[in-house]
Amino acid sequence: MQNPAAKKQVAIKNVTLTFNKGKKNENKALDNVSFDIYEGETFGLVGESGSGKTTLGRSVLKLYEPDSGSITFDGQEITRMKRKELGDFRRKAQMIFQDPQASLNGRLTVSNILGEGLDEAGYPKDKEKRRKKILELLEMVGLNEDHASRYPHEFSGGQKQRIGIARALAVKPKFVIADEPISALDVSVQAQVVNLLAQLQKDHGLTYLFIAHDLAMVKYLSDRIGVLHWGKLVEIGTADQVYHHALHPYTKSLLSAVPEPDPVKEKAHHVTSYDPSFEKDGQDRQMVEVESGHFVLATPSEAEKYKEKQNEWQ
Ligand SMILES: Nc1ncnc2c1ncn2[C@@H]1O[C@H](COP(=O)(O)OP(=O)(O)OP(=O)(O)O)[C@@H](O)[C@H]1O
Ligand SMILES: [Mg+2]
Repeated sequence: MQNPAAKKQVAIKNVTLTFNKGKKNENKALDNVSFDIYEGETFGLVGESGSGKTTLGRSVLKLYEPDSGSITFDGQEITRMKRKELGDFRRKAQMIFQDPQASLNGRLTVSNILGEGLDEAGYPKDKEKRRKKILELLEMVGLNEDHASRYPHEFSGGQKQRIGIARALAVKPKFVIADEPISALDVSVQAQVVNLLAQLQKDHGLTYLFIAHDLAMVKYLSDRIGVLHWGKLVEIGTADQVYHHALHPYTKSLLSAVPEPDPVKEKAHHVTSYDPSFEKDGQDRQMVEVESGHFVLATPSEAEKYKEKQNEWQ
């Protein structure tokens, strides 16, 4: 359960964002999304491709401007930040990207890539101090001094992602958005990068917004999980609530797609598909708290059913 004393670091309220507004290809990518991220927690955001996960992440970093709603960071409205506040905010909030190759400047050595981060953080220019700091950053992500003079293309995918993580950490952020940081990596190195992220969180007291398709991976890393579908949050709860006591039919279908580790069970494993007509009936749905901290998008009568189901589990 969420520690009631924990401080809200990010508060997202009623955020709606439409791409190509007023044009033929108008697309409501976020629809009235609200949730909070507490200091030191990992909030996992799941949903299929196109559900709006990256759009939400980019909005929180003020890279997109929502049509309406509010996003605050440490109590400050990000849409109203002026240049100086925005500079501070950009240092406190960083992003780790899905494609480590595309996110690193191929013309710079690793040392210069990390140096750019140190510049942004206003780190002293002293050469020796910088060399030590860059070595420290490399060691933090499991690389070493030999890697400093090389270029991104000389590294494996997993190593590139480690450089991307070191680049994000160079500015000493408090909050990190990891947008599918492992989906471009070989399965064999995915767990290493996930464990590295978990270790760094512990060591540096980071807050994470962890975005992924894979609910099993999100469950492993997250304190709480939000499920996004067609730009709407349909369920929020602790990792256990969402993973073991999912209520919304869309969450259930996502869960049913998670493969069973046991091959015998996997053979009998049934994937339930989601029938979207469920939410296309024109009825108004709100996020309803069916048990402490567990919210589901529901009509009043659906909410009653969910609460009954919840009571059966108790
Ligand atoms: N810059 C853009 N201009 C117009 N439409 C966009 C833009 N970025 C995203 N979209 C649309 O907004 C919707 C949400 O996209 P988004 O990239 O946020 O999804 P996602 O959940 O991150 O998907 P994925 O898992 O594939 O990364 C999609 O329909 C997408 O086509
Ligand atoms: Mg995305």
